[in-house]
Amino acid sequence: MTTRVLMVCLGNICRSPLAEGILQSKVDPKKVVVDSAGTGSYHLGNKPDERSIAVSRKYGIDITRQRCRQFSPKDFDDFDLIYTMDHSNYSNVIALARNEDHIRKVKMLLDEVESGIREVPDPYYGSGDGFEKVFHLIDKACSEIARKLENQS
Ligand code: 4NP
Repeated sequence: MTTRVLMVCLGNICRSPLAEGILQSKVDPKKVVVDSAGTGSYHLGNKPDERSIAVSRKYGIDITRQRCRQFSPKDFDDFDLIYTMDHSNYSNVIALARNEDHIRKVKMLLDEVESGIREVPDPYYGSGDGFEKVFHLIDKACSEIARKLENQS
C-alpha cells in the first residue's frame, strides 16, 4: 500500500518544497509518495524559491520540477499524513477539515523530533543562512518520518 504525505507551508515556495524533496529522497517512491502545497495563493504555478533550490541542490536533491499549488480541502481525502511547518499553517489547514479523520491526519512537522523548536521558521524575508538552518530542521524531521514509515511497511 502506498502512503501519501503532504507537506504544507504558507507560500509553497520555500519550506514545503524542501520538505517534499527531502522526504521523497529518503523513501521508496513505490511505497511513499510526497507532495506539497501552500495555504496561500501568492505564487501559484511558480517554481520553488531560488534559495530553496540552491540549498537542496547543495545536498544532492533536485526540487526544480516542483510547481506551487494551493492546499485544497480535497487533500484531506487524497493524503494519509499532512505535515504543517508552523502554527499558522496548522490552524489554516485545520479550519478546512470536515471531520475528525481529517483532523487526525494533520501534524506539526517538528513534533516528529525532540528539537525544542515546534515551528520551521519562515526564511522568505530573511537573509544569510536561514535556508541552510531550515534545511537541517526539516531534514532531521524527515529522517524520523522515513524511519517510522519504513518500520510500518
Ligand atoms: P514559505 O515561505 O511559506 O516557506 O513558502 C513564504 C514564501 C512566500 C511568502 C510567504 C512565505 N509570501 O508572502 O509571498
